Amino acid sequence: MGKHMVQNAGIIAQTFLKLSNEMFFALDTDKKITGINPSVSRLLGYEPDKINGKDVAVIFRDQAFLAELFTTLGTKPFTPRKETELVSETDDNLPALLAGAVCTDESGKTVGYMIVAADLSDYKMFEGEVKIGYDELMALNSILTSNKNDLEESNTKLVKIDKLKNNFLSMVSHELRTPLTAIIGFVKFIENGAVGPVTPKQTELIGLVNNNLERLLKLINELLDMSKMESGTFSINRTICDLTDTISVAVNDISPIAQSRNINLIKEFGAEKVMINMDAYRISQVIINLLNNSIKFSPKGANIWIKVRLIDFKEIIPPVYVSLEGLKQCRYYKVTVEDEGIGIPEGMHEKVFEKFFQIKKDTYSKPKGVGLGLPITREIIGMHGGRIWAQPTAEGHGAEFIFIIPAE
Ligand SMILES: Nc1ncnc2c1ncn2[C@@H]1O[C@H](COP(=O)(O)OP(=O)(O)OP(=O)(O)O)[C@@H](O)[C@H]1O
Ligand SMILES: [Mg+2]
Repeated sequence: MGKHMVQNAGIIAQTFLKLSNEMFFALDTDKKITGINPSVSRLLGYEPDKINGKDVAVIFRDQAFLAELFTTLGTKPFTPRKETELVSETDDNLPALLAGAVCTDESGKTVGYMIVAADLSDYKMFEGEVKIGYDELMALNSILTSNKNDLEESNTKLVKIDKLKNNFLSMVSHELRTPLTAIIGFVKFIENGAVGPVTPKQTELIGLVNNNLERLLKLINELLDMSKMESGTFSINRTICDLTDTISVAVNDISPIAQSRNINLIKEFGAEKVMINMDAYRISQVIINLLNNSIKFSPKGANIWIKVRLIDFKEIIPPVYVSLEGLKQCRYYKVTVEDEGIGIPEGMHEKVFEKFFQIKKDTYSKPKGVGLGLPITREIIGMHGGRIWAQPTAEGHGAEFIFIIPAE
């Protein structure tokens, strides 16, 4: 029965050695290999008959490791598992996790040694990949960090440049405006015959000079307003005054330009006073901007309507891109400027309020301007607690601009 057990134990051990993924080396007391399991052949390429009888040193790359292993085995029955490099039959390295044990007989005498080694190449490869991945991540991280620093630096520079640009714009516009106003005054002087009689030809030329001066003044004023808006120093001066009167004055101011092109400005509001809290100068600027645009983009002989109507808050129905958030829940005056000109193509209704944006289309009259009128207009209306938008109209129906301003 006992013998049977031992035999069984031998079979179990052999099967285990055969099937194990780990490499087993049996050594005699001279450290010569006396037996290997199939894993050794599989992983290192040695066949039993080629390796049996050889010194175990042939399978170790690191002889100092081997020496230390046997030093340990001189005092202990086995060694802890440690990493080392084994040498294959073709002289390649195989990373392995390896331990040694002393084999003793019943009396405790050393009869040989056993070495067990697990293949670490997959693990090493994985470890290598992880290391590469880690290194790549670190490299990426340092790139990102340096990009972030670059971005921050550029941003600071941009902010500085933007500030410089605004200061420059406001300084230049100021410096240009002063002499220009003087020139306009002098030309008026000449035009009125204050410095001597003016011939018809001269009058004609003075007219051209005046047109150009006005264009220049308008551009300078727009640039000045824009730079103030961008630097946050634009402000309005509100007093209680008459909206319809302000509109009428603006219409009168612009009527010479309209008349020169046979354009009819039609006022659709009564003469009764409409007193609201506003900056009359800035609101008249808004009306003039809108009328100027309508005149510019309308054919000769066309009509332009200006309507004023009192509406309830819930009657305000702007296009989706105009938010009513933050508006006072009160009644509003709704001012509409409607023309019969080229109109605004679909998808452009919001864009026309962007700085320097102009639709690439022919205008009916020159000069063209720079695309600042509407953005300035929107800012002015916004500061009054109102909103402005371009109302989509049916194809071929001209443009329609609407602004609302609190009535109370
Ligand atoms: N009534 C309109 N009919 C057709 N297009 C218009 C009308 N009003 C504005 N636009 C379009 O919107 C653009 C922007 O208008 P905006 O008033 O801001 O600039 P501008 O008139 O071109 O130049 P500026 O007002 O600075 O002299 C115009 O160039 C034009 O393409
Ligand atoms: Mg304009």
